[in-house]
Amino acid sequence: MNILLIGSGGREHALAWSLSASPLCDKLFIAPGNPGTAQHGENVALDVTDHAAIIAFCGANAVDLVMVGPEAPLVAGLVDDLKAAGFKAFGPSRFAAQLEGSKAFTKDLCAEFGIPTAAYRRFTDPLNAKAYIRDTGAPIVVKADGLAAGKGVVVAMSLEEAEAAIDMMFGGGLGEAGAEVVIEAFLEGEEASFFALCDGATAIPFGTAQDHKRAFDGDKGPNTGGMGAYSPAPILTADLQERVMREIIAPTLKGMEARGMPYTGILYAGLMLTKDGPQLIEYNARFGDPETQVLLPRLKSDLVTALLAACDGVLNTISLRWSEEAALTIVMAAKGYPGAFEKGSEIRDIDQAEALENVIVFHAGTKQDGTRILANGGRVLNVTALGHTIAEAQSRAYEAVSKIDWPEGFCRSDIGWREASREWS
Ligand code: AMP
Ligand code: GLY
Repeated sequence: MNILLIGSGGREHALAWSLSASPLCDKLFIAPGNPGTAQHGENVALDVTDHAAIIAFCGANAVDLVMVGPEAPLVAGLVDDLKAAGFKAFGPSRFAAQLEGSKAFTKDLCAEFGIPTAAYRRFTDPLNAKAYIRDTGAPIVVKADGLAAGKGVVVAMSLEEAEAAIDMMFGGGLGEAGAEVVIEAFLEGEEASFFALCDGATAIPFGTAQDHKRAFDGDKGPNTGGMGAYSPAPILTADLQERVMREIIAPTLKGMEARGMPYTGILYAGLMLTKDGPQLIEYNARFGDPETQVLLPRLKSDLVTALLAACDGVLNTISLRWSEEAALTIVMAAKGYPGAFEKGSEIRDIDQAEALENVIVFHAGTKQDGTRILANGGRVLNVTALGHTIAEAQSRAYEAVSKIDWPEGFCRSDIGWREASREWS
């Protein structure tokens, strides 16, 4: 079959790597893709906001399945439009993608269906929001309702910080995303990510991971899209995973069905493991980036079969096999990220990193210039390794990073520290 993958990040390189390895995949197209995805299929210069152009491409190229990577096209209804035009597309509908697109929507669903999450209130004006935080006190969490590219959450340790966040959001600092604000209780615990593959009625676990959101070592510095990850997240024990499926994922699917917007696609739950058990921090309606770069190297089953089963509503007929090995990925980013950074510096010796056993380098913001690879974004490479333990994967991945010659880039030197130190103790 012919498959079209939408996106251009490290997540999409990992997806292209898995999709193209499937015996079911005859031809893979990636729109717009990157130099990494081009190793596994044909990059096509489609504007992903132009749904009519994507539909026309699918018709002209006999595309049998469209896999949507990022959230923006999901929230814009790409899956709805493809399905209406008669194409099979993996991912939630525009309405179902509200689980990521609207924090207020998700919190209301949690309240109605008894899903454990931080207590919250919704506000549409700053005065009531400020009166509320003065009553509840800090620490407290202020969130813009809509998509804000990772900038929509302020964990305020003081009332002043919370008030400043409210002023910034209602003052238009995040555009339309901040027209409504959710204020919620501060949760204490360790964060972990849980993934479920869903077909509207059935969900099956799709692995666990832990991300590193801050830019610098020791979890310091500004928030980023993610500086590295590992899978599995051993802190999510089999018992806890069973609890997450029962207390969080299953009622979410039931709630979405009850609302007439059954959820199909990957459901990515950001969890806080509190002393009272797992609580939902947020949902994403897609695969994580860089989490996918550590989930897929561990998947032994065929990804295309799994995606088709989700699209066709027959997930209850399949089961997935996973490698016992651990995977760890280190993000190499342009110096300055997540602030201003330069594009165009040359990256050398990626092949030397990949020559190491059990190492894969996934491209994110790169650009091909003849035979040269140039940096073309903030997060640029995902240097990924497998190992028997997270510590082994970690040392292999850092060895691979050391082979790459890119003075204009940087990475954290402590990806996996939490788990590696637990393994040693
Ligand atoms: P998000 O951008 O929604 O992923 O949130 C960013 C980060 O804010 C999360 O990864 C958590 O570290 C933190 N966060 C969000 N909600 C809460 C909460 N209720 N309590 C504590 N931390 C939170
Ligand atoms: N790594 C966080 C995300 O994909 O949202």
